[in-house]
Amino acid sequence: SEYHAEADTDFVLPKNQEWARNIVKKWKFTKDTVHAITPIVIGGMDINEERMVVDAIDKSQLKDGVLAGRFANASAEDLKKAVEVARADVDGWRSLSHAQRHDALKKVAIKVRERRDDLIGVAAAEVGKVFTETDVEVSEAVDFLEFYPYSADYFAKYENLEFTGKGVGVVIPPWNFPVAIPLGGIAATLAAGNTVIIKPASVAALTAYEMCKCFWDAGISKNVLQFAPCPGALAGEHLIANKDVDFVILTGGEDTAASMLKTRPDLFLTAETGGKDATIVTNMADREQAVKNVCNSAFGNSGQKCSATSLLVLEEEVYNDENFKKALIDTASSMSVGSIWDFKNRIGTLANKVSGNLKKALESLEKNESWLLEPSYVDGNEYMLKPSIKWGVSEGNFIHMNELFGPVLAVIKANDLAHAVKIVNDTGYGLTSGIESLDEREVNYWKENLKAGNLYINRGTTGAIVLRQPFGGMGKSAIGAGRKVGIFNYITQFVDFTEKSAPK
Ligand code: SER
Repeated sequence: SEYHAEADTDFVLPKNQEWARNIVKKWKFTKDTVHAITPIVIGGMDINEERMVVDAIDKSQLKDGVLAGRFANASAEDLKKAVEVARADVDGWRSLSHAQRHDALKKVAIKVRERRDDLIGVAAAEVGKVFTETDVEVSEAVDFLEFYPYSADYFAKYENLEFTGKGVGVVIPPWNFPVAIPLGGIAATLAAGNTVIIKPASVAALTAYEMCKCFWDAGISKNVLQFAPCPGALAGEHLIANKDVDFVILTGGEDTAASMLKTRPDLFLTAETGGKDATIVTNMADREQAVKNVCNSAFGNSGQKCSATSLLVLEEEVYNDENFKKALIDTASSMSVGSIWDFKNRIGTLANKVSGNLKKALESLEKNESWLLEPSYVDGNEYMLKPSIKWGVSEGNFIHMNELFGPVLAVIKANDLAHAVKIVNDTGYGLTSGIESLDEREVNYWKENLKAGNLYINRGTTGAIVLRQPFGGMGKSAIGAGRKVGIFNYITQFVDFTEKSAPK
C-alpha cells in the first residue's frame, strides 16, 4: 500500500469547533478536580504507588495554575528492572515477522487518530500548547506510525536480506513536541524490531503517558513499551550507563548529549540537539509574505521549537524599509497570548518560567541593540510572555550565537546575501533555515552555501512533514549517524542486517 501524510483538522468547520469545545469540557480541570496518580509502567505492570510524585500544573488558569494531574517516578530499581524486561523480550516482539509488527503499528495509528482529542487536551493542560499546534503533531504522529513500518517494507522485500532489531532502545524526548517526538522515537524503535523504554520529559509526562496508552490499547504489550518517568540523573545512571541498552534516541540539549557520551563513550546515540535558526530576507523578497512566515516561525508555540526562526537577517534595503518594520511590529503584536482554553489566543503558556539564555536575552541589551517590540507579560503572568523583537543586533552578540527557546526574535543587518549566509553559518548550528526571495539565482546561491539540514524557501522554518521534509540538522544541531527523522534510512540505525546468500 502507498504511504500518505495525514491531514490536520480544519478548525474553521463548525463541527470541528464543537469537537474542540468538548475537549475543553473534558481537559480544563478545576481546582476541585481529584487526580489519580499516573503510573509508571514497567514489566507489564502499572505501578502507581506514591513514589516521587510530581504535580503537573495547567498554567492557563487562576493566578497560580490548576492541577492538571500527578505522576509517579521510577526508582533506580524500577529502571534496572525495565532494562532487564526489555532485554529479555518476554513477549517476543523481536521474533515477530516484519509484517506482524507492521500490522500491530497500523492498529496504533488508528488509535492515535481516534484519540486526537485527548492528545490535544492533555498537551494543552500540561504543556500549555494551543490546540492547532498539537493537532499538527497528532498528524505527524500518525505519519510516523505509518511511515516507519512502510520504510521497513522496503528492506523486508529483498529476499536475501534479513534484518533484526539491535535489541533495546531508550527514547528521551523533549517537552515542546510532547506527542510527535516521543511517539516518533517509539515508532521507529518498534518498527525496527526492538523493545523500547521511554523516559519522558518531566514537563510533559502526562502527555507521554496518554500517547503510550494508544500503543497499549492497540495491543502492544507493556513489556514491549515501558514508561519510565524519572529525574535525568537517574536516567543517566540506570538507563544510559546500562550496557544492556543498545541505543538511545535523544532530542535535547548539547550538554545532555555530551554528558550521555561521557557516561558511556561506546553508546550508540542519535540526537537532535537544537538550533539557532534564521530566515534571510533579501531585497528581492515578497516582503508581506516574509513578515507572515517569520512571525509564525518565530512566535508559534512561544518560540519553543528547535526549528523556530530566532534570527532575522535582513538585506540592507529591507532593514531600512519603514513599512517592513511596521508590518513586523503589527504582526508580532497581533499574535494574542493567553489561556489555551480561549480560542482567540494564538499562543499559550510557557512550559517553564523564564531562565538561562532566554532570561539573559530578555534582560540585557548589547551595544547598538534596541527593542523594536519590548518584551512584556500578559497581566504580569510569568508564563504568558508576549512576542518581542530585538533590533540592531551585531554579529557575535549573545543573541546571535545562542539558542533561547522563547518568543524573542533578533534582527541583524547584512550588506548582501553572501554576508547574510555567513552570519547564519557563524552560529555553528545547522537545523532549519529559511530564505525569502523571488530571485532564483539568490535561492540557488543560498542552497549551495547555507549549512543547515532543513532549507525552506518562501515558507516558514517550522512544521516539517514526514518524508516530504525529513527533519534533522548538522553542525551543533545533531549527533550520530541518522540525523534525519521521517526518511527511509532512519530505522536502519536500529537494525542489524544479515545477508542470507550472496547475490547472484
Ligand atoms: N519537526 C518539528 C518542526 O519541523 C521540530 O521538531 O517544526
